[in-house]
This record gives sequence, C-alpha cells and structure tokens, in this order.
Amino acid sequence: MASGEDDAIGEVLVEADRLAARVRELAAEVSADYRGRDLLLICVLKGAVFFLADLMRHLTVPCEVDFMAISSYGSATRSSGVVRILKDLDAVIEGRDVVIVEDIVDSGLTLQYLQRNLAARHPRTLEVCALLIKPDRVKVDLATRYVGFEIPDRFAIGYGLDYAERYRNLPYVAALKQ
Ligand code: IMP
Ligand code: MG
Repeated sequence: MASGEDDAIGEVLVEADRLAARVRELAAEVSADYRGRDLLLICVLKGAVFFLADLMRHLTVPCEVDFMAISSYGSATRSSGVVRILKDLDAVIEGRDVVIVEDIVDSGLTLQYLQRNLAARHPRTLEVCALLIKPDRVKVDLATRYVGFEIPDRFAIGYGLDYAERYRNLPYVAALKQ
C-alpha cells in the first residue's frame, strides 16, 4: 500500500530503507555487546514483531526469543498508564541477559512497568532496544540502551505500529492523519 492510497496515512516519518539500515546498525551493536553472553530477546506483542524479526536476522551471536503481550491502549491513541499482562513469558529469565525489544516509547509508562516487572525476576542484565522514541512525550526516567530513531510527537503507524489494529503491514513508518 503506497502512501496516498489511504486517507489515514500521512507524512512518512521513516522510510523503509532507513529502517533497514538502522536495524542492521542496532543488530551490529547488540552482537558486539552480547558476545559470550546468554542473550534472550523479549518481544512485546504485537507491534515489535516486525522489528524483532529484522533485528534478530542480523544478530551474529546466539540468542533466544520469548514474547509478552501487554495492553496499555485499547484503540485510543494515548497511553492510559494502566498496563495489564495479557500473555506472560514462557521462559524463566533469572540469571539471563535480557533485552526488551519494543516498537515505540511514547510516555514510557509501558516500558517502565515492564522493566520493573522483569527486574523483579532477577535477570543477570536487563536492557531495552526500542525502534522509535518520541522524546517530547516521555514522562518517566528510562534507561533505553538502544534506540533506532527519535520521531516527533505524532501518532505513528506502519512497520508493526497500528492504529486500531490496522496499518502494521506498511513497510515504512508514517504519521496517522487525524
Ligand atoms: P507508552 O506507554 O505511552 O510509552 O506507550 C507505549 C505503547 O503504546 C507502545 O508499545 C505502542 O504499542 C503504543 N504506542 C505509543 N505510541 C504509539 C504510536 O505513535 N503509534 C502506535 N502505537 C503507539
Ligand atoms: Mg501497541
């Protein structure tokens, strides 16, 4: 679907080729940092699935993946700050080197909750790899070790990001026309 065929797809924020190049860079960084470690990627469903798959394909160190589903939004476009675990991990993370793979950090409330929840399970290390961050929106103090792109305060869709479950399949990140 090209921009313009759908009235809800606004300005392109990150083109497909920039996404691909940056994901490779992040994978190279993670690979260098986790050599000889016990890397477990935790992918937050559903938005981070696309990013995770591309990132993981370019990792050159042994790694495993597990999934978590949480809800913070429903179909609205702003975080409520209330986070609910819909699907928990299958893996025990105690003593492991965990990297949370997230699609986007908006207020940061979701990630703050996740970091606290996972830290309580005593991983050896716990870091965050987020594809996108909206610096103007972040309300909490978060240590995000790996960040793909900073984007403006717009509701973003594409490359995994949805608006009411649609548009995840766009190969680029665009702003939603509201
Ligand atoms: P936060 O708790 O405000 O940081 O919101 C984080 C979650 O809300 C992300 O994991 C996304 O699922 C969703 N989200 C936040 N901003 C956007 C956006 O611009 N587009 C699509 N989903 C978003
Ligand atoms: Mg989401």
